[in-house]
Amino acid sequence: MKLILLGPPGAGKGTQAKMLTERFGIPQISTGDILRAAVAAGTDMGLKAKAFMDQGGLVPDEVVIGIVGDRLQESDCDPGFILDGFPRTVPQADALGEVLSELGKDLDAVVSLTVDEEMLVERLTGRRTCSACGKGFHVRFDPPGTAGICDVCGGSLVQRDDDREETIRRRLKVYREQTAPLIGYYRDKGLLQEVDGMAGIDEVQGQILGLVRK
Ligand code: AP5
Ligand code: ZN
Repeated sequence: MKLILLGPPGAGKGTQAKMLTERFGIPQISTGDILRAAVAAGTDMGLKAKAFMDQGGLVPDEVVIGIVGDRLQESDCDPGFILDGFPRTVPQADALGEVLSELGKDLDAVVSLTVDEEMLVERLTGRRTCSACGKGFHVRFDPPGTAGICDVCGGSLVQRDDDREETIRRRLKVYREQTAPLIGYYRDKGLLQEVDGMAGIDEVQGQILGLVRK
């Protein structure tokens, strides 16, 4: 299965991608996770990316296109992959099309998750992530058994630097201006599948499974 999960910040792309990864044994390729790992490791790319991410803007196309182009050539992507947070601009989508055609691969679907803006802000301000294993939680919608502690590994839960309300609003504006045009882009290619992302986590997963199993 070769899938793109498309949607605004907080739509549930990462949550759904992780569930699909476990079910199908194919990798999640999250440009956000890859960039945050580069920031944490203090690499040159990470240092450059951090300034854009902290502002809620997009990292330059050539940087993320390079990351995804390399990643898609790794052998664990042969059976399929789930792209989470890429592409985010029309040039990124064009570049992805070129990489896939060079590799002789076709996308199966682009799943677009739709969620109201005020719900997105609530989801992002309440998001917490395990600092040890990376599992995601939400203080209200998906709370851990003990506040602040990961159910899986006992690690401490942290908030992302860009999940402050002011930065969230900027990320949503960038989404509307630069990423939302991809909905029409993939609709025109006959690949778009729209899913109501306002539903609960398991219900959204069920909707996606219903689409990809067809
Ligand atoms: P990235 O990490 O990709 O962030 P994002 O797109 O802003 O998406 P999020 O991770 O915030 O949201 P999500 O949709 O994954 O939601 P989640 O599942 O966690 O990018 C970060 C930054 O990196 C960008 O701003 C940019 O600077 C840079 N970047 C990344 N890719 C780039 C690219 N291609 N080009 C240029 N720059 C790039 O869910 C959110 C919360 O809601 C969680 O707490 C979850 O538990 C909860 N939740 C999820 N689903 C539900 C549900 N159905 N019901 C109730 N709660 C739910
Ligand atoms: Zn953990």
